[in-house]
Amino acid sequence: MNVSVIGTGYVGLVTGTCLAEIGHQVVCMDDNPAKIEVLLQGRMPIYEPYLDQLVARNIRNGRLRFTTDAAEAAREAAVIFICVNTPPRPDGEADLTYVELATRRIAEHATRDTIITEKSTVPVQTGQWIEKTLAIYKKRPGITFDVASNPEFTREGMAVEDFLHPDRIVVGVSSPRAEAALRELYAPIVEGRFPCPIHPECRVDRAVPFLVTDIASAELIKHASNSFLAMKISFANAVADVCEAAGADILQVVKGVGLDKRIGRAFLNAGIGFGGSCFPKDLRAFVKIAEKSGYDFTLLKEVGRLNVARRELVVEKLKRALWILTGKKIGLLGLAFKPNTDDIREAPALAIARRLIEEGAFVQGYDPQAAAKAKEAVPDLAICSDPYAVAEQAEAVVLCTEWPEFAALDFGRLKATMVRPLILDGRNALDREKLTALGFEYIGIGRGQGGTRERA
Ligand code: UGA
Repeated sequence: MNVSVIGTGYVGLVTGTCLAEIGHQVVCMDDNPAKIEVLLQGRMPIYEPYLDQLVARNIRNGRLRFTTDAAEAAREAAVIFICVNTPPRPDGEADLTYVELATRRIAEHATRDTIITEKSTVPVQTGQWIEKTLAIYKKRPGITFDVASNPEFTREGMAVEDFLHPDRIVVGVSSPRAEAALRELYAPIVEGRFPCPIHPECRVDRAVPFLVTDIASAELIKHASNSFLAMKISFANAVADVCEAAGADILQVVKGVGLDKRIGRAFLNAGIGFGGSCFPKDLRAFVKIAEKSGYDFTLLKEVGRLNVARRELVVEKLKRALWILTGKKIGLLGLAFKPNTDDIREAPALAIARRLIEEGAFVQGYDPQAAAKAKEAVPDLAICSDPYAVAEQAEAVVLCTEWPEFAALDFGRLKATMVRPLILDGRNALDREKLTALGFEYIGIGRGQGGTRERA
């Protein structure tokens, strides 16, 4: 099928590239000429495993094109995805200026019947506004526009894998034509009919659920899903605090809780909280959406409050151990908001760095991918070129992001250069027994008496 993607940010680039990979003819459009230039040169504006290979292959085989020309993107596509950003306004509500602009351009330039699909995370009822906007700005009376909502559920760092092997595909439609087009578009994924570029031996042995809903429900599924996951994390963090006070071990507790199939173990990792461009923003937006419809979503407000409090918890734990922070060196392992990404948006590590610097500490950090962005965001943070350097002359090292390589560090070497061998494991990702045996003072999150190290 001929597909266009408006907005070549995180969501748009992954969507366009993966749709080309499964056989469609895709044009990705972005207003930013520098970004399009970078992509045309075969370089990536973001770090995402496998994406570079897929982009290069699909440019080569002619299925993937990039342009800054909105008319070119809107003209011939059977399905157009709106993937522009929807940044938060100061009050938490999503700013839909770019969604409206993309819609108007489609209305003006489309030359054939088209399914306009919102993929950006948008508040419920955005679909109705897109429909109205299309009707007002439509240039050719003879063509038909159908609006659909198709929320994305991909995780950064796993985006290609999540797109090609999703738990579910949700499409919100108001016409059989839109449903049929999106079914056809996703059929290779739903039926596992494409050579998997990540695992060549991969055979999808189950059909992917393809859920068809009305547009408003699809829009809500996205916010409800992200908010529920954020709630699970804050719940685990709250239980971790109780564990700590009561001498229980959060790792054992969530293992036991998560074995209940109705609950599940995923997203119960306690630590320094969630960050990124999605959970914090979507949580605030959902509270705002609820408020507009007359519901005070106090539950989600508390989820957000608990999350912000995790950062202060790290400062408190360090103060409890070190007494005075002024003038002391503290090392941070990991600066990205989670492993396998260079994304630092709302990264707990950076919030912690800022707070420690405010307290007068000298903060030095290392991250395999996010160091440059972190330095730009927090200029007073000293960046180390390897993980061992964060320990040099440090009174404490805080693990903020659980990059797998950190668990495999030579901790003896790390300890040798520290003033005081204190590790604050902000993600409960390190081997407490091993570190203690090496002579480290180990502080975890919610780690009471327990012994096992059980992470999902
Ligand atoms: C999240 C959702 O997981 C995706 O399904 C969704 O598509 C995406 O947002 C989006 O809306 O675009 P992402 O933000 O990439 O994906 O990252 P996650 O893997 O969900 O992690 C979010 C944050 O939660 C990270 O800071 C992570 O460290 C933290 N986290 C996660 C925990 O603190 N504990 C956990 O148990 C799990």
